[in-house]
Amino acid sequence: YGDYNQKIDYVFKVVLIGDSAVGKTQLLARFSRNQFNVDSKATIGVEFQTKTLIIDNKTVKAQIWDTAGQESGSMYDGSIWWGLGYRAVTSAYYRGAVGAMLVYDMTKRQSFDHMSRWLEELRGHADTNIVIMLIGNKCDLGTLRAVPTEDAQEFAQRENLFFMETSALESTNVETAFLTILTEIY
Ligand code: GTP
Repeated sequence: YGDYNQKIDYVFKVVLIGDSAVGKTQLLARFSRNQFNVDSKATIGVEFQTKTLIIDNKTVKAQIWDTAGQESGSMYDGSIWWGLGYRAVTSAYYRGAVGAMLVYDMTKRQSFDHMSRWLEELRGHADTNIVIMLIGNKCDLGTLRAVPTEDAQEFAQRENLFFMETSALESTNVETAFLTILTEIY
């Protein structure tokens, strides 16, 4: 399968969004390269990685986009929600996306409380048919949990999202989460 002439049947763009430091970059590193970096630096600008998979005998190229959860300072600047909304990259980031991962850190309540705003931004910019999965990352830090599974389940159900708890560090559910989204898109 290292064949450069490999025929690609589909290219699916999936975007990662959520507050800074929730683990977006490490989820992507785990899925695309099976790596994890303890000293992960904040993402600057936009990056993407690809991974080619076989789904239902078709070759699917997943193109996964990652961006900074914040440009600078905090998510709130007085009463202004920054999100990606004030940036020039916003529409380019969401354009053509068929899947999205809405990531929070289960040890940081605020990152979960911000999910509705990220969702609002996503729904404002992305295609209406986009497949969305809510991800509670860092489940290896269970003893520090600040977001009960039931709260997230309830939110996901209300908003019609898939939901999974993951650990990029321990590799828990990362592959499953991406595969669920990609299979659903397909
Ligand atoms: P921005 O680029 O600022 O938006 O952050 P990000 O969401 O991409 O976070 P990143 O992947 O850089 O991870 C932030 C920190 O959390 C790093 O120190 C990671 O090592 C750590 N981290 C990421 N995923 C996990 C996880 O599953 N478990 C634990 N314990 N730490 C994690």
